[in-house]
Amino acid sequence: MQQKLTQLKEETLAKIKTLATEQEIIDYRNAIVGKSGSLTEILKWIKDLSVEDKQTIGKLSNDIKVSILEAFELRLNEIKKAEIEAKLANEFFDVTSPSNEDNAVHKHPLTRALDQIYNTFERMWFKIYESAEVSTEYLNFDSLNVPATHPARDMQDTFWLEGKWNVLATQTSSMQNIIYKSSELPIRAIVPGRVFRNEDIDATHENTFYQVEWVVVDKDINIWHLKYTIKTMLGDLFGKEVEIRLRPWFFPFVEPGVEIDFSCPFCIDDWSKCRVCKWSSWIEFMWAGLIHPNVLREWWIDPEVYSWFAFGFWLNRLVMIKYWINDIRYFQQPNLAFLKQF
Ligand code: DAH
Repeated sequence: MQQKLTQLKEETLAKIKTLATEQEIIDYRNAIVGKSGSLTEILKWIKDLSVEDKQTIGKLSNDIKVSILEAFELRLNEIKKAEIEAKLANEFFDVTSPSNEDNAVHKHPLTRALDQIYNTFERMWFKIYESAEVSTEYLNFDSLNVPATHPARDMQDTFWLEGKWNVLATQTSSMQNIIYKSSELPIRAIVPGRVFRNEDIDATHENTFYQVEWVVVDKDINIWHLKYTIKTMLGDLFGKEVEIRLRPWFFPFVEPGVEIDFSCPFCIDDWSKCRVCKWSSWIEFMWAGLIHPNVLREWWIDPEVYSWFAFGFWLNRLVMIKYWINDIRYFQQPNLAFLKQF
């Protein structure tokens, strides 16, 4: 029996070395140590041996089984390694080559529009200031002629914070005071920024959105300059000249205040068929005005010498119009299918 086992071991180890594929290994492994493999069959006889033989033969057969299994394992590794080396030698894989997938850099539509807006205003010698996201009650309200008792506070549902810097800015107008106090006259400033309001969210309302403010303080400034800057920005943005319409409107920090509409750039010949402007040929868009004397007093500017205007608009809304986006919630979502369109 001992001899039979040793012979089986030598034959098996020699054969294992000649196996060339994983499948051959599996088949031969079954033939030796499988359910009715030749080694398994021999081992079945052990139970009929004497106690001493059981001990010696049992140990020997166990050692043989272990070394055969190790040999199988070793050969399998050799085969796999050779396969990988062959693959590497035959297939050239350039990790630096561009993939077919669309991995190009896509700018967020808000960034895209802002880039265009910066371009327009830089041509008109405006400076860009970024709006602070955390502001104070004073900057966001009081300095803009909206004291605590003013009913206009209710127009903006505010997130209040604890401490000195105590509101999330509800409007980029909250930067007006800082800009006036830190700049030399004349001032031409454009102020983009993220603002926050406690809104119920739906397709047209978000609690987080972007506004762009602009302020001009100079000598001999009048409403014509206000119209011209808006016309220039919209013309650049839509690639088409638009008309501007002003309607009186109330904002506590401007006098007079106006709401501004622009002629729909998408109506081709018949506005009664245009869905973008809702069949009206005009799009309601932004607010503006000549800054209120109370606000100017806060800024120590002499109203007899200087004139000024300020406007603000909701960037998300303008971008929705430009790209025909029908849901404001897209802007805050990491949705690649949406973002890759821009
Ligand atoms: N800050 C106002 C808002 O968020 C918009 C606004 C109105 C800005 C009139 C202005 C302005 O600069 O003159 O509702």
